[in-house]
Amino acid sequence: MSVAFDVVIRHADIATATDRYLADIGIVNGRIEAIGKHLGGGREEIDAQGRLVTPGGVDSHCHLDQPMSDGAKMADDFLSGTRSAACGGTTTVIPFACQFKGQSLQAAVDDYHQRAGQSSAIDYAFHLIVSDPTPQVLHEELPRLVAQGYTSFKLYMTYDDMKLNDRQILKLLSVARAEGAMTMIHAENADCIAWLTEQLLDAGMTAPRYHAHARPMLLEREATHRAIALAELVDVPMLVVHVSGQEAVAQIRAAQGLGLKIYAETCPQYLMLTADDLDQDGFEGAKCICSPPPRDKANQDVIWRALDNGTFQVFSSDHAPFAFEGPHGKQVHGDDAPFTEVPNGIPGLETRLPLLMSHGVLDGRIDVHRFVDLTSTQAAKLYGLFPRKGTIAVGSDADLVVWDLETPRTIQNSALHHNVDYTPYEGIEVKAWPAITLSRGVVVWRDGQYLGQAGHGQFLACERPVPAQVRGRGHRSPVWRP
Ligand code: URP
Ligand code: ZN
Ligand code: ZN
Repeated sequence: MSVAFDVVIRHADIATATDRYLADIGIVNGRIEAIGKHLGGGREEIDAQGRLVTPGGVDSHCHLDQPMSDGAKMADDFLSGTRSAACGGTTTVIPFACQFKGQSLQAAVDDYHQRAGQSSAIDYAFHLIVSDPTPQVLHEELPRLVAQGYTSFKLYMTYDDMKLNDRQILKLLSVARAEGAMTMIHAENADCIAWLTEQLLDAGMTAPRYHAHARPMLLEREATHRAIALAELVDVPMLVVHVSGQEAVAQIRAAQGLGLKIYAETCPQYLMLTADDLDQDGFEGAKCICSPPPRDKANQDVIWRALDNGTFQVFSSDHAPFAFEGPHGKQVHGDDAPFTEVPNGIPGLETRLPLLMSHGVLDGRIDVHRFVDLTSTQAAKLYGLFPRKGTIAVGSDADLVVWDLETPRTIQNSALHHNVDYTPYEGIEVKAWPAITLSRGVVVWRDGQYLGQAGHGQFLACERPVPAQVRGRGHRSPVWRP
């Protein structure tokens, strides 16, 4: 057989967000050149043997080597973070170039490019985090950066070093509207958290489990409602990140029902963990401290239903890799340290796809098309990477996962490839794991072996996103027009 392709994947059971069919995939120069039966030969041949093949994951919410204003240090840099992503079937990451107060946005972007350097094993783009919306940021830097391919930014309603007031958020939403950027919002009410935290600490309630008491669902509900109102006032799309349960889901659902372009993301921790996981012996509960905190079983069920019914567009990891032990670990201030001293966030880049494939698709909670949409396609669309990323189509990058759905395994941190000394999912059973991951046609993970290379990953300048229609049928007239 003459060689027509660099790589051919034979007998693939291809699943995209919309279609499923058996075919071969021919790859040339890292892109999909042909899809069909009986394709010509490849220099490299991979027999998928009828196994499920999905687009590589796009993890559109993860933190890698993000500088922290309090001196805390993340355990994963671009090398270890993207290695771990590849081993779990993710082929594109979008971490955050985070502006410190007083810093220019451009300086944050330049610094973040330095950190990514030639380290990344898979392709990557950047979101921005805006914490200091000066006139220069609003009128010069943001318009320029959006035009250069940084087309999404995250805004925080909480955390002292990040939080913005409503007026600042409105100004940033106006820029997003003018420039065609996507905004992501961390929705929790900062003043209520501060007040509750004070009460808890005064009463000596300092153990990790009180982190969840300081951030009840009510405060996420209030902030989600307010964020949606601000987006409606400016008449601009917005994506609510890391949604944890019923009350926030209800706000999002109501907004979508009115026809507002409100999108939503959830994460594995809101399906697999509950607040009880913060209440473990010693300081172990700190391993599950993240914000918003995991809720309870009833809220997990709501999140599962909202994944299935289209309320959520995106399922990301919110990988925030703080070690447990060591000089930058969650435990650094000792086992009696108050929960306020524990960096917020948990790792999850590598386990994201196997958990959802196993507990979502194989357990019958969502179908495989929803899986692809949630883990890859919608993130690529909402952040301006589609159709290069997020699908299996002629012309798209050959970012692919060949699945092993036959080998049950137990998640163990010792088998993962991040640089964090624990996983919150230790001991959880999964029935699915990527057998092979390809990044732009290159095998980066195969049969339990990491085969990737630092520097293979390329920076992706994002297009302006084209927000999808939400499922609601309503139509709200704008409250105000400039
Ligand atoms: O606790 C969390 N989620 N840490 C990561 C930072 C963020 O707010 O996403
Ligand atoms: Zn957040
Ligand atoms: Zn995050």
